[in-house]
Amino acid sequence: MDYLASEPIWYTVLFMLTAVHLDTASHTPIYRQLSDHIRESIRSGNLNPGDRIPPTRELAGQLGLNRATIAAAYELLESEGWIKGHVGRGSFVQPWQNELTPISFASSRPSEELFPLDHFRTVCRQVLDGQDLGAILQLGSPFGYEPLRRWLIEDAFTSGISRGSDKVVITNGCQQALDLIARALIQPGDAVLVEDPVYPGLREAFSRSGARVIGVQVGEDGYRLDLLEHALRRDRPKLVLVTPSFQNPTGASLPLDARHRLIAIVRDAGALLVENAIYAGLRYEGAPLPSLKAMDETGETVQLGSFSKIAFPGLRVGWVLAPTRIAAALAETKQWCDLHSDQLSQAVLVRFAESGLLEQHRKRMIETGALRLAACLEACARHLPKTARFTRPQGGMNLWVTLPAPLDAAELLHRAEAVGVSYLPGRFFSATAEPGCLRLSFAGLNPGKIHRGVSLLGTLFKEELARARLAHHSQPALAMV
Ligand SMILES: Cc1ncc(COP(=O)(O)O)c(C=O)c1O
Repeated sequence: MDYLASEPIWYTVLFMLTAVHLDTASHTPIYRQLSDHIRESIRSGNLNPGDRIPPTRELAGQLGLNRATIAAAYELLESEGWIKGHVGRGSFVQPWQNELTPISFASSRPSEELFPLDHFRTVCRQVLDGQDLGAILQLGSPFGYEPLRRWLIEDAFTSGISRGSDKVVITNGCQQALDLIARALIQPGDAVLVEDPVYPGLREAFSRSGARVIGVQVGEDGYRLDLLEHALRRDRPKLVLVTPSFQNPTGASLPLDARHRLIAIVRDAGALLVENAIYAGLRYEGAPLPSLKAMDETGETVQLGSFSKIAFPGLRVGWVLAPTRIAAALAETKQWCDLHSDQLSQAVLVRFAESGLLEQHRKRMIETGALRLAACLEACARHLPKTARFTRPQGGMNLWVTLPAPLDAAELLHRAEAVGVSYLPGRFFSATAEPGCLRLSFAGLNPGKIHRGVSLLGTLFKEELARARLAHHSQPALAMV
């Protein structure tokens, strides 16, 4: 549909928007109150896709506000995907419920719409035109491309994560780092403690190496430390893996005191602590927490990182920061697996990082992620059955929903897909997850799609709940014999 072709007259919209009540005494800034009002008008159907919203000057005049305030409200709505400005033509309401486009909450990955493609092209060209291209295209070290390693080590050193006795091994994403650790450090039968529920790629990497993979329950605040302590005594694990910030799939983070205690109990048990910091750079709210590697005074903790969540998952570049002897064992194993990782990707990424573009992009990811997380939490509160529970992460890409019994997220998935929405059922992450559990990955969707998707899911779940209750009540009473 060509929304511009059907341009409705903006002053009817202007008339409607001037009905807004703006409270100057409120803690919510005026531009936010205004954007909330416009968003609500779109959601409720008072404004429709294709409607032209009034120029900033007109609305500012009508509301007695500064033009900059109106512009800030429009900018926010545009960043959320509700409206779109066309140079010389004005701003238009965007289609927020395109029935034909499936809305997938199934993948924990960044949205490619946010990739800074022009910057990326520029950096690629600089690398291709650079003097090092020959060396980049030659075989290199199994530890990875030296300039990227140097950048990562310096970054870890200046941010207090590394004490200087560590080495970096570049890997094909964090997934390969997990696989290399399993191959290099695990003998068949060794016990390995992992979170439950957990990212399946992690569980698989260790099970395939013959490890006894033992899940320890994750609660609102990450690992249940009472259970972890028990498992450390009972199973004498060689390794403990933990994603302390914005864990996949629950979004849970370990508070500071729990981090201290976890380091102490793992050290007392003589196990190696492996910290998966893949989501740590994506904090949207709350005070930052130090990484386990930074807190561990022995320097023994192994930390895994990746560019997949903060930048480009398709480049497949991750890394391990580890004491020298462990890094050497991993690099040796990597050599037998694939010699080393692609150096062109690494060269582009280090240039991207050194030029400040990575940090600029990460900031954008955080701003956008914050809006998406807020939209997801608001949509869950508004649309899911009242008895559903969901986690409230402060960052990352995922939240964990528990639907009330007897709803079964796996059984309902095909019906959700039939209305155009997908997610991953809890069983994918844990053999013991309650049937009602599911993961919503919100980072790849704009707020309009998040609201629409959760609203469709909410309708489906509520209908199913009502049907199940009706079926339960209409069961014949048991014969009292
Ligand atoms: C917890 C966790 N670890 C590792 C990975 C794999 O990441 P990469 O793309 O860097 O291999 C993922 C991907 O979703 C993840 O969620």
